[in-house]
Amino acid sequence: MKYSTLIFESHSISDTLRFGRAFADALPEQAAVALHGTLGAGKTLLVQGMASALGIDPHTVTSPTFVICNEYIGRKTLIHADVYRLNDSDDFLAIGGAEWFQSNAITLIEWAEKIDDCLPLNLYTVTISQRSESARQIQLESPCQEVTDAVSAAIMAS
Ligand SMILES: Nc1ncnc2c1ncn2[C@@H]1O[C@H](COP(=O)(O)OP(=O)(O)OP(=O)(O)O)[C@@H](O)[C@H]1O
Ligand SMILES: [Mg+2]
Repeated sequence: MKYSTLIFESHSISDTLRFGRAFADALPEQAAVALHGTLGAGKTLLVQGMASALGIDPHTVTSPTFVICNEYIGRKTLIHADVYRLNDSDDFLAIGGAEWFQSNAITLIEWAEKIDDCLPLNLYTVTISQRSESARQIQLESPCQEVTDAVSAAIMAS
């Protein structure tokens, strides 16, 4: 599969929220998204931005580290998972994780590298790198050029 890449420099929390909103608007109703980045990089914050674009109260979006998975229903449905506490793909399959990718939802997986071999081929990958206390680099690798273009246009316009 051919992937297109977009790199966005976030200088603040609101920049990251803005990227999240643009991304949620651009994605189709069904998509799988791997979220990479160290502890505190901003993965959950980005999902809060996505939620707000879909009419979901971002304050209800909390880290799913302990519950593994939360579902939020807005203009599009978000399945927000954090597999940090799972050991491997076997654990993921045991909790029925593979089914999330079949549902009509945007499935977001924090620490997706733990379950590499369960991820679908047409995967969106967001990698957040900490540059300083308040700056982050957000890299989007997308299997769909239209989505990359739409995110890029929306963050430029907002
Ligand atoms: N530009 C920025 N973008 C994102 N987060 C930022 C930024 N600047 C500061 N922060 C802070 O970084 C933290 C990001 O926390 P968040 O819970 O989103 O990280 P996470 O990647 O989900 O971590 P974990 O792996 O522990 O789940 C928040 O406290 C947020 O306020
Ligand atoms: Mg998190």
